[in-house]
Amino acid sequence: MTETASLLEMTREMALDAGRIQRESYEQDFLIESKSAKIDLVTSVDRECEARIIRRIQAERPDDAILAEEGGGEDRPGAEWRWVIDPLDGTTNYAHGFPRFCVSIGIEHRGVTEVGVVYDPLLDELYSATRGGGAWLGERRLAVSRESRLDHALVATGFAYDVHKSPDDNFANFARLLKAARAVRRDGSAALDLCYVAAGRLDAYWEFKLHAWDVCAGTLIVTEAGGSASDLHGEPPPPSGAAIISSNGLLHDEILALLRE
Ligand code: IPD
Ligand code: CA
Ligand code: CA
Repeated sequence: MTETASLLEMTREMALDAGRIQRESYEQDFLIESKSAKIDLVTSVDRECEARIIRRIQAERPDDAILAEEGGGEDRPGAEWRWVIDPLDGTTNYAHGFPRFCVSIGIEHRGVTEVGVVYDPLLDELYSATRGGGAWLGERRLAVSRESRLDHALVATGFAYDVHKSPDDNFANFARLLKAARAVRRDGSAALDLCYVAAGRLDAYWEFKLHAWDVCAGTLIVTEAGGSASDLHGEPPPPSGAAIISSNGLLHDEILALLRE
């Protein structure tokens, strides 16, 4: 087995394990707190999932760097491999019992994403990709949609946690796309939004002010499904998650032009 194949297997197991915790604790009593803003939540389930994932990586791959949303990771400058983990993407949904959330784990080799796994525990849908190896939903190979008309397209976006205060709020983009596309969704999980573009359920998705853990796995999954992912200018999306525009490719330039208006 190649190193990438064994990392994919390990990542799948960790995602299924975190997803089981999310499923078992869903709509139960768990602790909810605020972070950067009063609408930016973290739950005890986010923390428990992160701790379990990190414990296994540290036990099996002690030299790897880890970037994890809730801060449990270890930055190891010079490490060959880095794990990029969102232990629960869709925390607001989770806190409200709105059934759309997942765990997202990406692995970079010298800065290039090699493995991406996203698991939706309620639908039991496991998305995965390796660089050059295609994108998969379980055993089914994924391909983006073939829709070329924006007025026939289903598009998604999201809004950052500074939305109550920042004038840079994505509202004008939302209005423009709402008038140009068939419909625009705001479902509350960036990682699943990217996987839905990969699966052809969405034709495009864009968002700003995300973080590396929101986009690392999903960006590989969407590009391995034949889709496009870029920043506002059509350049490769920043790994930081500051901007991501993803689509089936056919709609990409038209959407970029609308977002740049
Ligand atoms: C959030 C979700 C949401 C997006 C936010 C993200 P979290 O992640 O992906 O869809 O709009 O910007 O921060 O906080 O639930 O992990
Ligand atoms: Ca997230
Ligand atoms: Ca999260």
